[in-house]
Amino acid sequence: MIDQYPLGELSAEQFLRDYWQKKPLLIRNAIPDFEPPVSADELAGLACEQEVESRLIRFDPASDHWSLEHGPFDESTFANLPPRHWTLLVQGVDHWIPDAADLLAQFSFIPNWRVDDLMISYAVTGGGVGPHYDNYDVFLLQAAGHRRWELGGLCDEHSPRRDDAPVMILPQWQPEQSYELGPGDMLYLPPQVAHNGVALDDECVTCSIGFRAPAHNELLRSFSDHIGEQLGRETRYTDPDLSLQENPGEITAAALDKVQAILEHYLQDRTRLTQWFGRYMTDPKYPELEEPGDDINADELGSWLAEGGVLVRNEGARFAYVEHGPGPDALDLFVDGRAYTAHGDTATIARALCASRTLELAEQADSLSDETLNLLATLISSGALYCAED
Ligand code: SIN
Ligand code: CO
Repeated sequence: MIDQYPLGELSAEQFLRDYWQKKPLLIRNAIPDFEPPVSADELAGLACEQEVESRLIRFDPASDHWSLEHGPFDESTFANLPPRHWTLLVQGVDHWIPDAADLLAQFSFIPNWRVDDLMISYAVTGGGVGPHYDNYDVFLLQAAGHRRWELGGLCDEHSPRRDDAPVMILPQWQPEQSYELGPGDMLYLPPQVAHNGVALDDECVTCSIGFRAPAHNELLRSFSDHIGEQLGRETRYTDPDLSLQENPGEITAAALDKVQAILEHYLQDRTRLTQWFGRYMTDPKYPELEEPGDDINADELGSWLAEGGVLVRNEGARFAYVEHGPGPDALDLFVDGRAYTAHGDTATIARALCASRTLELAEQADSLSDETLNLLATLISSGALYCAED
């Protein structure tokens, strides 16, 4: 667990009570002496990689024209850009850069499964993505250079937006507040608060810590898909109590009650709900990039841990758990959309893995159970954990 969160004078409890999902917050010097996890060159390099999600947004003030290009880019793109009014945005930097994953871990006052990714933008003077709103919470941490943030007012899908721009631009929006952020300063914005960040100098780097907030339509679709996959086609609507209807065309209240009871039966099944939601919220952001890890057997792993080996959660791996509740100590562990069960000491280790990116077990290595070693070896071979030398 981290004992110092990047919240300035505020405790995590105060932040959650007064600001989270409620109102914006500016935190000056949230991370003192902050070192950006990537340089501008490294960010441009990432944007040239096939697997990395990136965007280049430009604005031409003379023609009032916004343009959007998706990566991967080649180096010549960057060599030929104008001196002003563009920004490069690279998504999921935490998947590629261990220091970026560590930065994300500083935000552990919000549950892991609510965190989406770390996006980093690089802009030249005047660069930005324009006035817009997002549907998720975001911490905007200034990493290098300076950016002016204007913000204010809640927007939604009915808010007017330009129809001639490839990105969301709110044309009639009037900001209510304006702040200039320098390295280490951070702005928190709840969902739907309109904002506009404009780079004030040529090496303006901003880290966006973004969160997952599943839309109700996604939750319902995913849950019903999960249940649907488990059920055979022979479990069906039945009505042995059918009585004669006056009009055969009527769908009666009794029939609707039956349908409602079928749906409620699945919704009230807490085990099914847990098994679905744990997998759903830990689904990898980029499933196509999943790669298996090293094959290691439980004995080899035990000796390696005894020698001081450190287990590290893979950058981008998603870990969460659900306690079984009263009764024997046990939990369901969810990692990258897969489910495992852990009991006793294994459950303790699973909790520790969910709380922190690294785990050192040298002192307990001799007493680790087969269940623990087998679980850890499975997580290593699935690529969710890797072994680092101390
Ligand atoms: C940025 O320009 O770095 C942040 C974009 C945003 O406001 O979401
Ligand atoms: Co935004």
